[in-house]
Amino acid sequence: MPGKCALSLSRPLSLSLFLAILNEIYVLSLSSHPSLLNEYLFMVQATGIHIKDNVKNIGVQVLEQVVRGGYNINGTDYAYDFNLSESDVPPTTYLPDSFTYLSSQICPERLPSMKGRLEVNMSEMALEDVERFLLNAEPTMTLGGYWKPRDCVPRWKVAILVPFRNRHEHLPILLRHLIPALQRQRLQFAFYVVEQVGSEPFNRAMLFNVGFREAMRDLDWDCMVFHDVDHMLENDRNYYGCGDMPRHFAVKLNKYSYMLPYNEFFGGVSGLTVEQFTKINGFPNAFWGWGGEDDDLWNRVQYANYTVSRPQGELGRYMSIPHHHRGEVQFLGRYTLLRRSKERQSLDGLNNLQYSPLLSRRPLYTNISVSLSRKLAPIADYN
Ligand SMILES: *[C@@H]1O[C@H](CO)[C@@H](O)[C@H](O)[C@H]1NC(C)=O
Ligand SMILES: *[C@@H]1O[C@H](CO)[C@@H](O)[C@H](O)[C@H]1NC(C)=O
Ligand SMILES: *[C@@H]1O[C@H](CO)[C@@H](O)[C@H](O)[C@H]1NC(C)=O
Ligand SMILES: *[C@@H]1O[C@H](CO)[C@@H](O)[C@H](O)[C@H]1NC(C)=O
Ligand SMILES: *[C@@H]1O[C@H](CO)[C@@H](O)[C@H](O)[C@H]1NC(C)=O
Repeated sequence: MPGKCALSLSRPLSLSLFLAILNEIYVLSLSSHPSLLNEYLFMVQATGIHIKDNVKNIGVQVLEQVVRGGYNINGTDYAYDFNLSESDVPPTTYLPDSFTYLSSQICPERLPSMKGRLEVNMSEMALEDVERFLLNAEPTMTLGGYWKPRDCVPRWKVAILVPFRNRHEHLPILLRHLIPALQRQRLQFAFYVVEQVGSEPFNRAMLFNVGFREAMRDLDWDCMVFHDVDHMLENDRNYYGCGDMPRHFAVKLNKYSYMLPYNEFFGGVSGLTVEQFTKINGFPNAFWGWGGEDDDLWNRVQYANYTVSRPQGELGRYMSIPHHHRGEVQFLGRYTLLRRSKERQSLDGLNNLQYSPLLSRRPLYTNISVSLSRKLAPIADYN
């Protein structure tokens, strides 16, 4: 399908949208990937499917217009993420430093220890040094990066799931950065690093399903945070608890010029209660290679009648460690699968998943090492 492509849109185009598309095509043609260009043209036709992977930083604003244009015939409604005057939630809504905790009471959500903007230190550090540093600061941490506040009852029991392959230098940076922030948020938590072994393309979504299953054997977690290893939150008021609705935490990434790349973006860092995640049958297992699985999760969430919630304004800012998908292939079949999200939801996910993990506990995380292959997630035929 992406081969036979004429620009035959079923709707009238505004001039600005048309120019935006032309500009985008120009950028893509410079990148000398004819297949990407075809893929892109195809996507322009397919309403609801976006083009994030083809677009580098410079294309973000254009992308925003194209994607918004896909939903909005006149294409002029893109003030949403261009509001430079928006500021943090007023600090007055946070509790004062003098707040007294009671060990019998639920920890508040807006704690005085959550100060707002964080410095992100991207310099590499040995895992052993981070272990020593964090255990020294909080000796009550136990194996697997498990921690629980003592001065109040944690509001959420959060398992942080981190899909992993070949990023050993990123993991200590994440742990050093995130663990103190979660402690300031008075959450009960542990880390699960789910590492894919074997030669199949990286399957982020299936790793999350495996991590979910294994984490639930440890403890009755009530909240799952699905966290890329290279995403560093920039504001500790971005609270990692769950809510009535699935939550998208990583709203504004530095690599997308701190703008939401498209409204349906659900990548980077997201969180669902165990109940929500079970209801949507988890992530799809069929996305081999990077891209698309987060959009499928978005679709699943919509089909379950949830709406995604997001932190306001500056709270959703993240910095990502620059890298180049290091040998990981992108999943070109994703658009085909995304068109059938609905049919596949009940067939592919937590309910068709088999695997044999190898678990080991490190001071700051549980290492779940797992070999993945297609036969571990068979999908019944669907039309
Ligand atoms: C443009 O779109 C918005 C939102 O869909 C709508 O409210 C507005 O009336 C439209 N304007 C024109 C000129 O069509
Ligand atoms: C921008 O954000 C500020 C503060 O949140 C708000 O008061 C204002 O109405 C917003 N402006 C637009 C154009 O959305
Ligand atoms: C960042 O971390 C490195 C390694 O631990 C340390 O040497 C350096 O001082 C840190 N930088 C800042 C600005 O804190
Ligand atoms: C979602 O809402 C629609 C309309 O109210 C309803 O028909 C459908 O059964 C709901 N789906 C789920 C999964 O609850
Ligand atoms: C996890 O365990 C496997 C098997 O012992 C090991 O090869 C791998 O390096 C470990 N990964 C991490 C991130 O600790």
